Amino acid sequence: MNIAILGTGRVGGALGAGWAARGHRVMYGSRNPQSELVRQRVRAAGDNVHAASLDDAARHAEVVVLATPWQGAQAALQMAGDLRGKVLIDCINPLTEDFRNLDIGHTTSAAEQVASWAPGAKVVKAFNSVSAGAMADPWFGNENATMLYCGDDEDAKRIVRRLAEELGFDAHDAGPLSIARYMEPFAMLYIKLAIKEGWGGNCAFKILRRE
Ligand SMILES: NC(=O)c1ccc[n+]([C@@H]2O[C@H](COP(=O)([O-])OP(=O)(O)OC[C@H]3O[C@@H](n4cnc5c(N)ncnc54)[C@H](OP(=O)(O)O)[C@@H]3O)[C@@H](O)[C@H]2O)c1
Repeated sequence: MNIAILGTGRVGGALGAGWAARGHRVMYGSRNPQSELVRQRVRAAGDNVHAASLDDAARHAEVVVLATPWQGAQAALQMAGDLRGKVLIDCINPLTEDFRNLDIGHTTSAAEQVASWAPGAKVVKAFNSVSAGAMADPWFGNENATMLYCGDDEDAKRIVRRLAEELGFDAHDAGPLSIARYMEPFAMLYIKLAIKEGWGGNCAFKILRRE
């Protein structure tokens, strides 16, 4: 699959390396694709990975991953161009600039804002409630972390589920895109816990079930 990742930070780095290692073609979309940092990111991720401007990366992709800070999301989508018909995975948590709180929530979500900024894209919220460390390795002993995702397009959700499972996650469909109103505060809880307990990226949520 051709995957464009908008943003070359911790999340973009972990997802890009993981999918490239599983045979997907990954193109990072960066504001500065020639920078030494981005070159390092590409070298570290192996043969299936390249970098380009945001619009060049998005143009040939079937799946576009939005992995920028909330404050840069709208501009990144504008630079990426027309995403009509593409699966758009929104990893964003709409944190305030000091990372202490959520900027929006409860009556809307970053995911719904993203959908309004990318008309015609099939938006799926995913990869927001786990750390970048868990994206690189979702296994905690014999248990794998849960990956919640939500969206309004069933085909798009099937693709995202497969991509999450390929990385090793226990993927779970949480419902329509409006469920992001709860997935984003859920991620904020993760951030608060990880900071309070000093766990960093070495913790993850797991849904337990029984018949
Ligand atoms: N870190 C985590 O564990 C984690 C987990 C789940 C979800 N998230 C969410 O995923 C998103 C990315 O997180 P991250 O930790 O990967 O962030 P990060 O390390 O700061 O990287 C973000 C990347 O976005 C690009 N970007 C585009 N517009 C930007 C702007 N205005 N300011 C700064 N960077 C901009 C940059 O790439 P270029 O310079 O190449 O354009 C940058 O490398 C965030 O919304 C975050 O809330 C993070």
